[in-house]
Amino acid sequence: MLPILVAPARDNAGMTAAPATPAARAAELRAQLNHHAHLYYVLDAPELPDAEYDKLFQELQALEAAHPELLTADSPTQRVGGAVLDGLLPVRHVVPMLSITTETDTTEGGAIAFDARVRRELGLGEADPPVEYAAELKFDGLAMSLRYEQGVLVQAATRGDGETGEDVTQNVRTIGQIPLRLQGDAPAVLEVRGEVYMRRDDFEKLNERQRERGEKTFVNPRNTAAGAIRQLDPALVRQRPLCFYAYGLGEVQGWELPATHAGLLDALAAFGIPVNGDRAVVQGPAGLVVFHRAMAAKRDALPFDIDGVVYKVNSRELQARLGFKTREPRWAVAHKYPAQEQVTTLLAIDIQVGRTGKLTPVARLDPVFVGGTTVSNATLHNVFEMRRKGVRVGDKVIVRRAGDVIPEVVGRQPGVRAAYVPNFHMPRACPVCDSKVVREKGGIEYRCTGGVFCPAQRKQALLHFAGRRAMDIEGLGDKLVEQLVDAGIVQSLPGLYKLGVAKLAALERMAEKSAQNLVDALEKSKTPTLARFLFSLGIRQVGETTAKDLARHFGTLDKLMNASVEQLLEVPDVGPIVAASIHTFFAQPHNREVVEQLLAAGVAPKESAGEADDRPRPLLGKTLVLTGTLPTLSRDEAQALIEEAGGKVSGSVSKKTSYVIAGEEAGSKLEKARALGVEVLDEAGLRGLLGG
Ligand code: IVH
Repeated sequence: MLPILVAPARDNAGMTAAPATPAARAAELRAQLNHHAHLYYVLDAPELPDAEYDKLFQELQALEAAHPELLTADSPTQRVGGAVLDGLLPVRHVVPMLSITTETDTTEGGAIAFDARVRRELGLGEADPPVEYAAELKFDGLAMSLRYEQGVLVQAATRGDGETGEDVTQNVRTIGQIPLRLQGDAPAVLEVRGEVYMRRDDFEKLNERQRERGEKTFVNPRNTAAGAIRQLDPALVRQRPLCFYAYGLGEVQGWELPATHAGLLDALAAFGIPVNGDRAVVQGPAGLVVFHRAMAAKRDALPFDIDGVVYKVNSRELQARLGFKTREPRWAVAHKYPAQEQVTTLLAIDIQVGRTGKLTPVARLDPVFVGGTTVSNATLHNVFEMRRKGVRVGDKVIVRRAGDVIPEVVGRQPGVRAAYVPNFHMPRACPVCDSKVVREKGGIEYRCTGGVFCPAQRKQALLHFAGRRAMDIEGLGDKLVEQLVDAGIVQSLPGLYKLGVAKLAALERMAEKSAQNLVDALEKSKTPTLARFLFSLGIRQVGETTAKDLARHFGTLDKLMNASVEQLLEVPDVGPIVAASIHTFFAQPHNREVVEQLLAAGVAPKESAGEADDRPRPLLGKTLVLTGTLPTLSRDEAQALIEEAGGKVSGSVSKKTSYVIAGEEAGSKLEKARALGVEVLDEAGLRGLLGG
């Protein structure tokens, strides 16, 4: 504990002494609320419970209501949004909002060509040292200019035609990440330029909600963000979670600018403005190529869409020497990656039957290269969504593949059509087993009633069982499962363990060696953790996390199988729907039989000792974050070890993070850990924590 050298004035209750005037109190509340908003939205490291924040907020609201003259533009109460507008007003940009040249060559040659141009324009010869560049991501959102006067956000404007944009101040205020007041010594005027975007997970959640409500889904995060920011009703904007990253400046008064672009971004971050951590200062074309490659590898793992990277000459002095073409700086270039959306033809629609019998329409497409692979199938989600989008077989459609989300048809290529007459209907009988298809009243899901009788459901159940996060049976992929089920060799999960080398080797396209490998993999899979075993059974509503919670709580399979609904409800995070689903599953004799046969075949889940556990749990109560590549442990292995030791693994660094475990090529999480003073360890350090 650090000694307190200078204690603030405190009254008897240990509270900071109340300011003398309402004006002083309002100022104090605003400062506190802005500080906590920054911790919460930008650093993702809240220090104050939500309820405490709300209390301060309400106090400020009451104060401002009683003294309207105290209301200021930077008051957090102004985030809530104002009146519905009739239209957006024009804003003239004092410094035009330019665009950048796009390098058409998406290979690494694009980076080399840019450097060659820069060197030529600067008159550099072969003997001259490499040019230093600031490399950053090209965010796929919409450009925004934020104007701060005396540190207070006074205006936000879209790019428009570059000369004149639209005033969207009200809407931008609802973005929690954007500070209403800058931290530290703010310049008289500071226009921050950057990109408003929507995270992919927020976008997926939004669309999931739209689907549940039977409303129109959005095409992609960029369009959704752009549409939201131009809404006339700020209350609607608030329902669209938007984010912001700064990448440059507009008008500035009263500030001596840093000498480099990288220094400028650091300075903006110090003002409390969100700046992305995946940026680097690199030397010459070789450095650009390394950055281009590293970000291409990382693209799918980023939480938001990028359409490329941007290279900027780092020195502002060199930037000034290079100057501008008509509308674009000569010192910057956008180097794109292959697109994540493409137009192709919808050739036909098949029905896929899932593990739980759910029927999903799947688009068969004219193969198209999108998001780094050739896509010939994409989900259409459900027939109602198809109707809302007006999609018909034979149409030109837009296919999207971004991140690890499965490819999907997001809509028709824009164009007019007289009237929409669907040419696809959901079947009344399962296309695989001919069982009756049912739809819950008012629901959107069609389901095959065949259960384990349906080969499609059986195949999916086997694939799920063998999955990497379930029993992890290497070599048991969809082709093989297809063969095994179609040939009637495997009818249910326990049947897998009766497979012998001879039987497998007799299958088409199966070499003796692969047959032996699969038998070995099956043998190796026989001692899963209880959590993995539970997950692999494919009980509805039981995902990986719930399986872990159940294993931890009950400790043994036996206890779980015989638990009552009440007992199941005692498990943290298990609600009535999940409890009922688990109970129903184990109440069915054929499910119990499957479990018993698996055990009889030699599958022996490693039972957790449950609540009466007395194994050492050195990481109990600790939260760890993994980043980068560790020398010997995969991400999953590291996570399993941490969880076995009682710890939790989180995806983002906050003040509450106990340790960050960093490997090769650790990125922004490492930077954040350092900024927040969180202890950083390598793999050896992690092993130390685990007890050797
Ligand atoms: S710099 C004077 N940097 O891409 C240079 N732009 O035409 C101004 N964009 O619509 C742009 N990420 O909104 C720059 N890191 C980045 C960017 C970026 C995305 C957008 C920008 C503009 C377009 C460039």
